[in-house]
Amino acid sequence: MRHSCVACLGLAVSLITTGAAAGADVAQNRTVLGVKACSDCHKNECENWEKSEHFKSFRNIGQRRAAIKGILDAVGVKTTIKTTRECTVCHFTMEADPSSTAAPAMVAKAGPSCESCHGAASGWLPIHYDYGGKDVKKDAETAEHRSKRIADCLAAGMIWSTQLHFETAVNCVRCHGMSRPDVDAGKLARMVTGGHPVNAEFEILRYYQDRIATKEWSERSPADLASIFIAGQAAKWISAKEAIAKSEDAKYKEAQVKRAANAEAVLSALKGIPEADTLLSTPSEDNARKLMEAVKGKDFYSQVSPFIKPRLSSTAH
Ligand code: HEC
Ligand code: HEC
Ligand code: HEC
Ligand code: HEC
Repeated sequence: MRHSCVACLGLAVSLITTGAAAGADVAQNRTVLGVKACSDCHKNECENWEKSEHFKSFRNIGQRRAAIKGILDAVGVKTTIKTTRECTVCHFTMEADPSSTAAPAMVAKAGPSCESCHGAASGWLPIHYDYGGKDVKKDAETAEHRSKRIADCLAAGMIWSTQLHFETAVNCVRCHGMSRPDVDAGKLARMVTGGHPVNAEFEILRYYQDRIATKEWSERSPADLASIFIAGQAAKWISAKEAIAKSEDAKYKEAQVKRAANAEAVLSALKGIPEADTLLSTPSEDNARKLMEAVKGKDFYSQVSPFIKPRLSSTAH
C-alpha cells in the first residue's frame, strides 16, 4: 500500500474510546467506534472513502459560511454546524471527546464515514469477521456458522451492504432526502426554506457506482444493477411520501413532491409486478421488502434501464 490512511492514523492517536463513552445510538446503546477501528483490516475501503465527498466534506463544508448561516438562522440556532445536533446527524461522524470527564461531549470527528453507512459497530465489530473461533479460517467456516454470523451482525445493527440493497438505500436516503424520523420535520422544512439543498435526482446506483462501490459497473450483471436501482427508488418513494405528509411548508413540499415523482416513474415501469403496485398505493418498508423479494433473482434491467442515467465522470470526485 502506497499511501497510508491519513484520517485513520490521525484518529488513532486522538482517541482512545471506551465502549460506553463513545457516540451511542441511545435507544440501542450502540456505539460509533470511528474509522480507526476499521482501517487495519479494510485499507482499500478506507482509501476509497478518503477520495469521497463524504470524507472531504469535513474539511470543506466550513467554506460554505453564508449558506450554513442561512440554514442555521432558519432553525433559529446560534451554534455551529459541527455542534448542532440537527446538522451533525447527517453531516458528521460523532465520537466522544476523550478529554471530557462527566457526561461525554460528542465531537464531530469526520464527515459521514464507515459506520454512517454500515451501522454503529460496537455490537457487531468483534463478530463480523469471526469464522467460528480464533483459528478458524474463512474457508473452514460452516454454512450454519456463516448464516448465524450474518444474522447476529444484522441483529447488532450492521448494514451488510453487498447483500442488503434496500437497507443500504434506506440509510442513504435518510441523509439524502431531508426526511428522517430523528429530526423534527418542521425544522427540516425550515432548513430547506433557508436554502438547504434537496437533490430530487439522488439515485443510489449512479452515486454508488462511481463513488462508493469497489466493484466496477462492468463487473455487475444487469439484473444486479436493476435490483440496486429499484431498491434506491423504493427507499426514496417511502421517504418522500413520509415527508410530504409531515409538512405544509411550500418549498419543502415542492422538493419532496419532486423526489416522489422521480421514484414513482420508475416503480410504475415495473409492469406486471403486483408488489410494485402495492408499494405505490401503500408506501411502507414492509411493502418495499416484499417488492425486493419479488424481483430477487429476476432481471428487470430492460424495464428500468431507460431511467438509469449515464455514469458520472470519475473526475467528479
Ligand atoms: C480484524 C479485522 C477487521 C476489522 C477491525 C474490521 N473488519 Fe470488517 N471485515 C473483516 C473481514 C475478514 C470481513 C469479511 C467477512 C466475511 O468473509 O464474511 C469483513 C467484512 C466487512 C463487511 C461486509 C462486507 C460484505 O461482504 O458485504 C463490512 C461492511 C465491514 N467489514 C465493515 C467494517 C467496518 C465499518 C469496520 C470498522 C468499524 C470493520 N469492518 C472492521 C475484517 C475486519
Ligand atoms: C437529513 C440530513 C441533513 C440534515 C439534517 C442537514 N443536512 Fe446539510 N446536507 C445534507 C446533504 C445530503 C447534503 C448534500 C446535498 C446535495 O449536494 O444534494 C447537504 C448539504 C448541505 C450544504 C451545502 C454544502 C455544499 O457543499 O454545497 C450546507 C451548507 C448544509 N448542508 C448545511 C446544513 C446545516 C447548517 C444543517 C443543520 C441546520 C444541515 N445541513 C442539516 C444532509 C443534511
Ligand atoms: C456512503 C456510504 C458508505 C461509506 C461511508 C462506507 N461504505 Fe462500505 N460500503 C457501502 C456500500 C453501499 C457497499 C456495497 C458496495 C457494493 O456492493 O459494491 C459497501 C461495501 C463495503 C465492504 C465490502 C467490500 C467490497 O468491496 O465488496 C466493506 C468491507 C466496507 N464497505 C467497509 C467500509 C469501511 C471500512 C468504510 C470506512 C472507511 C466504509 N465501508 C465506508 C457504503 C459505504
Ligand atoms: C450520515 C448521512 C449520510 C449517509 C448515510 C450518506 N450520505 Fe452521502 N452525503 C452526506 C452529506 C452530508 C453530503 C454532503 C457533503 C458536502 O457537500 O459537504 C453527502 C454527499 C454525497 C455525495 C456527493 C454530493 C453529490 O450529491 O454528488 C454523494 C455522491 C453521496 N453523498 C452518495 C451517498 C450514497 C450513495 C450513500 C449511501 C450508500 C450515502 N451518500 C449515504 C450524508 C450522507
